[in-house]
Amino acid sequence: MNVLVTGGAGYVGSVCAQQLLAAGHKVAVIDDLSTGHRQAVPRGAVFVQADLADTRTIGQLVKDTGVAAVMHFAAAALVEKSMTDPRYYFEINVQKALQFLHLLLELEVNDFIFSSTAAVYGEPVSTPITEDHPLRPINAYGESKLMFENILHWYHRAYGLRYVALRYFNAAGADGELGEDHQPETHLIPRLLNAALDQAFEFAIYGDDYPTSDGTCIRDYVHVLDIAEAHVLALNALPVVKGAVYNVGHSEGHSVRKVLDAVAEVTGRHFPVRTAPRRVGDPAVLVASSEKIARELCWHPRHSDLKNIVRSAWAWKQQHASGYGPPAVQ
Ligand code: UFG
Repeated sequence: MNVLVTGGAGYVGSVCAQQLLAAGHKVAVIDDLSTGHRQAVPRGAVFVQADLADTRTIGQLVKDTGVAAVMHFAAAALVEKSMTDPRYYFEINVQKALQFLHLLLELEVNDFIFSSTAAVYGEPVSTPITEDHPLRPINAYGESKLMFENILHWYHRAYGLRYVALRYFNAAGADGELGEDHQPETHLIPRLLNAALDQAFEFAIYGDDYPTSDGTCIRDYVHVLDIAEAHVLALNALPVVKGAVYNVGHSEGHSVRKVLDAVAEVTGRHFPVRTAPRRVGDPAVLVASSEKIARELCWHPRHSDLKNIVRSAWAWKQQHASGYGPPAVQ
């Protein structure tokens, strides 16, 4: 199948593009490279640098390559920034994404896999979180993703769009040459690895007074390769599933301190750690129930053991101390 991957130069998008190629699909990537890296686009994929709202370029690409399905990753994804600049989040994650979806429907591309997030749930009222947990996002990022999920739901009912929305918990780990390189980097594991590499890096635990066993927040870390596999399974299942939402998590919670210990063990390095105040909007515990995706898509995470995640991310970080580095000359 010919699959269009938006945001295929980003962290999760590039690994999914690679897995699609490995599964025998043809892949076209569009990415505006505002946060993605040209070097991350897997060899074998057609690449076009384009904004999601550039309907002329994308329309031509869809026709030229015979795109039959889309995986949509291109989005703004920094929770904190979404609170100071919500307009940008609604513009990219809703307005432009909708314009893009309308183009696809015009071109009769009806199969759509959407990169969603656990941030649609907000503060959990029960754990592990199932898909029917209340949806009350506490940041504009989560709200923007939920709005788009709702659009997909109604378009499925009205226009026969077939879609799967995958709500990832904490994407982590690396796949060989493909790893996590965000600017700025806010995520726990890459920041810990930065500290392991560079003693001058100031790592802080954001709050140790949460109501958890060691006082630090608990999250559900899921390997990016397992996330990619969920996408490929979802794509294959579209003719049967037609319209659905799934959590993608390992269903195992690890505290910040536990992740820190795993990083110290895997890297063999110790570094200064201080405790800082809580980060605004961090729930104490976020752990997925992934029963639905296991039952309906036969998805079983094979790479998400915490040490395995850290090992793969460390291997990548050692090869890419400054991330992907400056953009390659185009
Ligand atoms: N943390 C630290 N120190 C750091 C970085 C993070 O203590 O330097 C802590 C955070 O406070 C949090 C945990 O590590 O308790 C994980 O933080 P991340 O930033 O790695 O991930 P989040 O759980 O905040 O965010 C993830 C996804 C978001 C998604 C969100 C849903 O990355 O896209 O879950 O709540 F929106």
